Order: sequence, then structure tokens, then C-alpha cells
Amino acid sequence: MKRSDSLFQPDRRIAFFRGFLKRPAEVGSLIPSSRFLERRIVDLAHATSAKAIVELGPGTGGTTRALLRSMPLDAVLLTIEINPRFHNIISAIRDSRLIAHKGCAGDLVDIVSGYGIDPVDAVVSGIPFSIIKPEFGRSIIQSISDLLTQDGRFVAYQFRNRVNSLGREVLGPSRVQLELLNIPPVRVYSWTKNGHLRLD
Ligand SMILES: C[S@@+](CC[C@H](N)C(=O)[O-])C[C@H]1O[C@@H](n2cnc3c(N)ncnc32)[C@H](O)[C@@H]1O
Repeated sequence: MKRSDSLFQPDRRIAFFRGFLKRPAEVGSLIPSSRFLERRIVDLAHATSAKAIVELGPGTGGTTRALLRSMPLDAVLLTIEINPRFHNIISAIRDSRLIAHKGCAGDLVDIVSGYGIDPVDAVVSGIPFSIIKPEFGRSIIQSISDLLTQDGRFVAYQFRNRVNSLGREVLGPSRVQLELLNIPPVRVYSWTKNGHLRLD
């Protein structure tokens, strides 16, 4: 983690906690992702070689910054955040590779095509699939599948496993990892579009 990021951390934590108090179900967590979780997400998304990544529910931007630190200089990162306060925090990140969009993950296909991003190498998601209606969650995952390249990746970090059953219906079996160094510990589910489990 860069020094500037660690200095920024207390503000982000307070903003995140306030966001949780206002919309607990939508935010789904009391505190932002740990840097250990961020690192795991970056690795599973193969961010170092990605040309285009979409992040659903970036919150206060810890994962967003971690992705940007790893992505190539000519890459694009599109964030889609429903919470206006969180979106404003993301919009303040100064990085020409970042496109911050305020909106709903349900409109993913239209949003991505509106920015002319094609193809998408990875989608990273923190949105709480366990509290949204299953049909809605399934349609978001179907959109993710439609957008991804053949060996594109979908990475979802979640406290409950609803995303696993929905993702299996669309993308086949997931790879599941448990990140203990996060409060609370969180599961990270990942898929490749072509359905073959990759262990690299
Ligand atoms: C667990 S938090 C993300 C935490 C983030 N990694 C961080 O460290 O700040 C989940 C985020 O998903 C957002 N969200 C929930 N439903 C959404 C939707 N339908 N579309 C876009 N964002 C959504 C919430 O506002 C929240 O910012």
C-alpha cells in the first residue's frame, strides 16, 4: 500500500461506515475491504494483464485503487456505483484510466456499451448478491458473461454464498477462496467465462 493511501484510509473508513448506516443492506459491510482482500481480488482478476476491467460496487475505492496500481498504463477501469456519496469519492481519484459511473449494476450492458468498452477482460463485484432478488442477480451475472472475453474473469467477494449458486447456473462451477484477513472474513468466488476452472 502506498503511503498516500494509508493516510487516506481513516477518512475512507468513516465515509464507508456512514454509508453503511444509511443503506446497510445495499452496502453489505461495516468497514471497507482489507488490503489482503484487495490483493487477492487483483490477482484473481489478472489485473496486471487486463486491458479493460469493470468494477461493480467500488464503495469508497480501496479495491479500485488496488486495481489501478496493478493495471497496465493503457488499460481502462470502469466503476459502477449506486451510492452517490461513494460515487463522488471514486470520482475524485485522479487517474486517466478510470471512468467512474453513477448507476446500477443491473444496467451493466448499456453502461459498458455507452463508453464503447469492448471486450471486457474481468468484472470485479462487491455488490451483495445475497440481498438482491435472485432473478435480478442472475440477470446481472448473465450480463457479465455476455460482456466477458472467452477467457475473461468474474471475481465476486461476498459474505454469503448466494452468488455461488447463481454464478454456477450461468458460468459453471466457481473457484472459492476464503480471505481470513478481512473483517469479517470473506469468500472470494471466481469464474472464467469459458467455464474451465483455472488454478493458476
Ligand atoms: C461491500 S461494498 C464494497 C466495498 C469496497 N471494496 C470498499 O472497500 O470500499 C458494496 C458496494 O456495492 C454497492 N452496490 C450495491 N448494490 C449495487 C448496485 N445494484 N449497483 C451498483 N453498486 C451497488 C454499494 O453501494 C457498496 O458501495
